[in-house]
Amino acid sequence: MLARTDLVELIDSRVPLKKTGHNHSACCPFHQEKTPSFSVNGNKQFFHCFGCGVSGNAISFLMEYDRLDFLDAVDELASRLGIEVPREASNTPSISPSLYELMLKASDFYFGHLSRNSKAKNYVAERGLSQEVVEQFKLGYATEAWDGLLSNLSQNSETTKQLIEVGMVIKNDNGKTYDRFRDRLMFPIRDKRGKVIAFGGRIIGDGKPKYLNSPETPIFHKGKELYGLYEAKQQNRQLSRLIIVEGYMDVVALAQFGVTNAVATLGTATTDFHLQQLFKTVNEIIFCFDGDKAGQAAAWKALEIALPLIRGDRIVRFMFLPEGEDPDTLIRAQGKEGFEQQQEISLPLSEYLLNELSKDMNLDIADEKSRFLGRLKPYLEKITDLIFKEMLIDAAGKRLGMNPNQLAVSLGMTTKRESFKPRQTTSSAKTITPMRMLVALLVQNPELAKEITNTDWLLTVQQNGSILLKSLLDLLHSSPHLTTGALLEHWRGNDEHGLLLKLATWEHLIEESETRVEVFRDSIAKIFKELAQTRRDELIAKHKSQSLNSEETDELRRLLSSNS
Ligand code: GTP
Ligand code: MN
Repeated sequence: MLARTDLVELIDSRVPLKKTGHNHSACCPFHQEKTPSFSVNGNKQFFHCFGCGVSGNAISFLMEYDRLDFLDAVDELASRLGIEVPREASNTPSISPSLYELMLKASDFYFGHLSRNSKAKNYVAERGLSQEVVEQFKLGYATEAWDGLLSNLSQNSETTKQLIEVGMVIKNDNGKTYDRFRDRLMFPIRDKRGKVIAFGGRIIGDGKPKYLNSPETPIFHKGKELYGLYEAKQQNRQLSRLIIVEGYMDVVALAQFGVTNAVATLGTATTDFHLQQLFKTVNEIIFCFDGDKAGQAAAWKALEIALPLIRGDRIVRFMFLPEGEDPDTLIRAQGKEGFEQQQEISLPLSEYLLNELSKDMNLDIADEKSRFLGRLKPYLEKITDLIFKEMLIDAAGKRLGMNPNQLAVSLGMTTKRESFKPRQTTSSAKTITPMRMLVALLVQNPELAKEITNTDWLLTVQQNGSILLKSLLDLLHSSPHLTTGALLEHWRGNDEHGLLLKLATWEHLIEESETRVEVFRDSIAKIFKELAQTRRDELIAKHKSQSLNSEETDELRRLLSSNS
């Protein structure tokens, strides 16, 4: 798949590139800059930014730029090429593509009815939803009929079975089948690739239940999906922050008024899985809750889920709306600016935590101080990130008027400040050994692999990198046309990947291809020479302690004569 993707074309479809010499370049999409230092090499199928150091192949680019995880990036490449990616059976228990097709048809069906039904149209108008946002979220209407969807989509018993499987049709004990959603405003729920996988249906006007959701199905797991995430990604090429709100209507209303980065859980509490997913896309998450008791309780729950996931580069904030308001009503009353003002006074997780724990306490009193610390301790223990933990201890220290070191001791937490000292850079990382030179040249110029035909001898070389070099060579011998980008893909997820990336972007030394071959051969010769020296020393040592047999004597003689 990597072989069939053209990196220049792929990147150009997202970041317009200019041809510059052998390469293509642009202003780097991964950091702010005015002059282009982002360079794409079509021959190597490799990109690199001299400004911020980001580099990689087509998959890395999609992972970074589209904020996809590895498998989704692969899917994206495949779908550009029009291929289906087979997944291991255990991963996704064989989902028939026709289930997704049915959901899409259902969504089209509901969407069509919304513009034809005056009751639904009136309700949408009453809620102040614009035609544009209705189309963007593809809102629809399920009519009052018991078999509206069923009679429209189901041509045979097989389709009926599938409609039941995706939760759109219900079969009762008497074997009678009927539409799950009737007389409701329909919110299609799309997965991160934009496929419709479920619906939320709101009653038109008052009544119970207010919302009806799709059940769990083979294609829908509500603890894993977030309403509006796909739409938010579509609206914002570069997302840095997402807001988690409570309702479908909130997401849609916010989008209508220009806040296009809101998502909602599907009537459930936020899960650990949700947050992990969101942190793949953004570094900052703002929870937005109603100011009432239920909102407070939900916020605290969210805090407990978020605590272990906080790291230095991740921000979690909490935003509380005035009582009686939800994001929908607030933005309609106060506009985008009003909403953003509320957002600005949102609390960082640490402050929210300390505020709540010290509620109704007088921290000037010694007893209260220790009661506060008793409350704080279990939360500190949930934090995995050492820097964040330190920071929180510092903040608690300020509130208590205590020295943070002393505080850490009384909490029984030594903060190991020493461990934050910048690590000594190992000198070997900088010296260019022949082995390192070989690996670097090979990664940058895979065609050099033909210079070394036999690789078994590398197993006897006791040097850093010899095994890596052997794997690189073996791979290139079996697939001689791999580009730099494709080559690196074989190491994704391995410890060596980072090293290879670094070597791939080593500003090289050798521009001219003839010199390159020479340096490559020269490095091999150096390694052979070292090998020979080691062997010679070994034999001499043996000669001194025991005696050498005739073969060994010959070998030593040869080594001594060929070596200076
Ligand atoms: P509107 O009342 O139309 O403005 O919707 P809302 O989004 O403000 O609803 P609310 O704040 O009452 O609820 C937030 C979310 O909780 C909804 O978007 C639903 O996901 C879920 N929810 C609310 N009521 C029900 C219900 O009766 N049943 C289920 N299953 N979920 C509900
Ligand atoms: Mn509401």
